[in-house]
Amino acid sequence: QRSNVSATPPMGWNSWNHFAEKVTEADVRAAADALVSSGMRDAGYVYVNIDDTWEGKRDAQGVIHTNDKFPDMKGLADYVHSKGLKLGIYSSPGPSTCAGYEGSYGHEDEDARTYAAWGIDYLKYDQCSFGDIIEQQAGGDQDKAASIQRAAYEKMHQAIMKAGRPMVYSFCQYGLYAVWQWGPDAGANLWRTTGDISDHWDRMSLIGFDQDGLEKFAGPGHWNDPDMLEIGNGGMTRSEYEVHMSLWAMLSAPLLAGNDLSKMTPETKSILMNRDVIAVDQDPLGHQAKRLWVEGPMEIWGKDLSGGRRVIAYFNRGEAAFDFDPRLSILAPLHGVRFKDLWSGNTIVLNEKSRLLVPRHGVLLLRQQ
Ligand code: DGJ
Repeated sequence: QRSNVSATPPMGWNSWNHFAEKVTEADVRAAADALVSSGMRDAGYVYVNIDDTWEGKRDAQGVIHTNDKFPDMKGLADYVHSKGLKLGIYSSPGPSTCAGYEGSYGHEDEDARTYAAWGIDYLKYDQCSFGDIIEQQAGGDQDKAASIQRAAYEKMHQAIMKAGRPMVYSFCQYGLYAVWQWGPDAGANLWRTTGDISDHWDRMSLIGFDQDGLEKFAGPGHWNDPDMLEIGNGGMTRSEYEVHMSLWAMLSAPLLAGNDLSKMTPETKSILMNRDVIAVDQDPLGHQAKRLWVEGPMEIWGKDLSGGRRVIAYFNRGEAAFDFDPRLSILAPLHGVRFKDLWSGNTIVLNEKSRLLVPRHGVLLLRQQ
């Protein structure tokens, strides 16, 4: 049984994509401040998630402590809560995390109790060194490997439930062992479907457009996670970041900003805080989009929203601008229907003569009015 959180995909910020191993308490406080001052909190971004490298050593009782970068986790949680935000933390089912810090292996109950006492609201649980344990115990037996992994993730789920504080539980095991099939029953509110994203068009688009087929596993309380956002980190163009945001919203993916929130350009803010696009992501039906049509680098994806409305995304993954043909048979039923272009704000009525021009590495995102 999962705790009653994440009815819609979690939204917030995570330290990893920008700060990685260098993150400190001051960075996390600054992120919390910026979520409020930028308007992001009010647009729905409420989780402030500390990723790897906060961990210190265990004491003689087995209780985990923070390291010098995070002198007072309870104080930090109180601060984050005082701003109307929630605090997330990170660990591993293995003995050590990916960055070589202390993991939760053999200490799941103590750690869940510690997190609850600090006031933690979200746990990302990252496989890391547990992969070696699976390999040692299962050899090449994939079924055995899957059940060892499931048991480890379930163990922490039970520990969280016993600790008694509701937490969003995020599985990070890179989409191994078809986690979407068993993750929800093992307590996952979200599960990574891929390896790590990076701030490059090739990697982001490879991950995003590869999610087709997973839509049947997502729904309120349990989501596919194609990894965190790179918007504002500087490695992609505006149009590419609009594709990133549009695609993640179509996919009902968690929207966890991964940039330095204290240094955002107006462009970054306008992409992350496009209310219409956020509403596509956060639609209460929780229907993840699927691909409707593909030809070379051109793709059309559709998503059903509550109230019987549809969103259609025309994606151009190619190197030159492209005119979609409005007479495509999958579009015919939408002729005469009024749409809002969610990036320009314009109204468009689809018909046989509609101009559906999409720039290189770009998107036209239309929501039925
Ligand atoms: C691997 C994960 O996939 C990343 O998101 C990040 O959490 C790092 N580990 C941290 O070590």
